[in-house]
Amino acid sequence: MSKDLFTPIELGPYHLPNRFVMAPLTRSRASDGNVPYALNALYYAQRASAGLLISEATQVVPEGQGYIATPGVHSDAQVAGWKLVTDAVHAAGGRIFLQLWHVGRISHTDFQPDHAAPVAPSAIQPKGKTFTGSGFVDLSMPRALETGEIAGVVAGYRTGAKHAIAAGFDGVEVHAANGYLIDQFLRDKANRRSDQYGGSIENRMRFMNEVVDAVAAEVGADKVGVRISPDNTFNDIDDTDPVALFTAVATALSHRGLAYLHVIEGDMAAPSKPHRVDYVALKAAFGGLYIANFGYDKKRANDAIAAGRADMIAFGKPFIANPDLVTRYLLDTPLNAPDDKTFYGGDSHGYTDYPVLSGVPA
Ligand code: PHB
Repeated sequence: MSKDLFTPIELGPYHLPNRFVMAPLTRSRASDGNVPYALNALYYAQRASAGLLISEATQVVPEGQGYIATPGVHSDAQVAGWKLVTDAVHAAGGRIFLQLWHVGRISHTDFQPDHAAPVAPSAIQPKGKTFTGSGFVDLSMPRALETGEIAGVVAGYRTGAKHAIAAGFDGVEVHAANGYLIDQFLRDKANRRSDQYGGSIENRMRFMNEVVDAVAAEVGADKVGVRISPDNTFNDIDDTDPVALFTAVATALSHRGLAYLHVIEGDMAAPSKPHRVDYVALKAAFGGLYIANFGYDKKRANDAIAAGRADMIAFGKPFIANPDLVTRYLLDTPLNAPDDKTFYGGDSHGYTDYPVLSGVPA
């Protein structure tokens, strides 16, 4: 029988009842100290019928923050806060991975310890703005990491993964997408280094490989996924040869026994622009479980799974507005529309108060 969103699947050590992934979604609703709290636990638990939940991007070290009220996983209070989330998700029958994040140069001195410059592979200021306590401000000029500092940053990801498991997460996703630190090392618009972390594709992949290997050594490779965005120019990032670079990335990751590769299949900054990368070829180069993400709806998702172009599909906005998305797609009932005014920051409004179908178990 042909496969679709409702066909169970094995992911690492886990048996998933369906192929829905809740995409990682920044909601900027952590409490003081960037600590998750009960409201966040309710939000994730409401969506626990997805085969796999991926947490919002979570800074592994204080320097990894670039936006207001994003959660961290470096302090004891943050680990305790995340435990509320994982307990609630597990009680509701779900599974959740934590997304390990370092924004690199997509930050502002206001978020940095001692108001220092954000760190990056190279001292190139990205075009763009972020929202701080003083409103929308330009991203700050970063400083280039010294070669000798890089092992310490890799260790930050490893400690973040250790904390994630201590907080009850079922695994972790390494955020190597969307112009954040790992992607800054990968792509030549942001990486102009002349040491072993810059220049050739092999050198630009070194930081990603070191992070993935450190995290896998900590939690087990079969509990580690990686997210990439080969065509994305969001956050002022690009590469002169994305096909060669990301074929090499998928091939490098294929040897590591990972749980999955999660791919944003387009350019968030120009969604209708034709993509340069062949995602069927990319999936083949990786060879393992492939999660696709980029504005999928039920039909495109089922077609992609049936054709073998994807194993699972990650949905973002549909899960923001429809905690019971799995049931709604099963029954072909209409979806709630997401309210973009409540995507970032605030309270329960637009977060945990979207209606679910009545009389139907979620
Ligand atoms: C955002 O806050 O806009 C954001 C955060 C993480 C991403 C992408 C976008 O990966």
